[in-house]
Amino acid sequence: MNSGDLALAAKGVSKSFAQGDQRLVVLRDIDLSVSPGEWVGVVGRSGAGKSTLLHILAGLTDPDQGSVEIMGQALTGASPAERARIRNSRMGFVYQLHHLLPEFSALENVAVPLLLGGARFARAAARARDLLAEVGLAERLEHRPHQLSGGERQRVAVARALASAPAIVLADEPTGNLDRESAEGVVAVMSDLIRTTGTSFVVVTHDADLAGCGDKTLALLDGVLSAVAKPA
Ligand SMILES: Nc1ncnc2c1ncn2[C@@H]1O[C@H](COP(=O)(O)OP(=O)(O)O)[C@@H](O)[C@H]1O
Ligand SMILES: [Mg+2]
Repeated sequence: MNSGDLALAAKGVSKSFAQGDQRLVVLRDIDLSVSPGEWVGVVGRSGAGKSTLLHILAGLTDPDQGSVEIMGQALTGASPAERARIRNSRMGFVYQLHHLLPEFSALENVAVPLLLGGARFARAAARARDLLAEVGLAERLEHRPHQLSGGERQRVAVARALASAPAIVLADEPTGNLDRESAEGVVAVMSDLIRTTGTSFVVVTHDADLAGCGDKTLALLDGVLSAVAKPA
């Protein structure tokens, strides 16, 4: 596939950090291609470099070597303004901690990215209402983050990530702070929304079950990304 036809194409990505007078090598020559609508899970234990990889895929951290393209547009080497434009127009994010605005309602939190993108309030609010209904929160529109359970907050975060109809969503331990039952609920709505909208999805997690829900599962070990065979 031509890299212009891919939602995400990372090639030869390497990253190390200074550690005293040594280098800590975190990522070694990583290639990753994500097709439109494809769901990719990356599993690795704590400290394996998952967040570092995701930050590089998001254009928030520069790799030492290698490149990242989103929908055929270069993130690596692009100006900060161009990166921000690609992030805002093409990408959505879900983190371990919800990062919702505490003073804002669930509805407003989901509407904010649309308002920042220039949408009118009525239209942004209508879309936010629809998305919140899809993640099972039709009855929680006016709740503020502290009035929601952990699982509900992550559902709002999922709705927010999808608000601007991104080509790809990147998620870093989206269920890492939740009990098993809430986590399963969040995965179910996230999976529904990702699948019905045809959004590409990359999730990094230490949870092999979550990493294994997608079309393709990769393991990050000793800085190397390799395929994990699906259990029969
Ligand atoms: N900015 C940084 N400076 C130095 N070391 C870092 C930095 N970011 C991450 N690391 C190190 O890189 C390794 C991978 O970190 P991280 O990507 O957060 O792992 P994971 O998300 O898989 O737990 C860790 O050993 C961490 O200490
Ligand atoms: Mg991490």
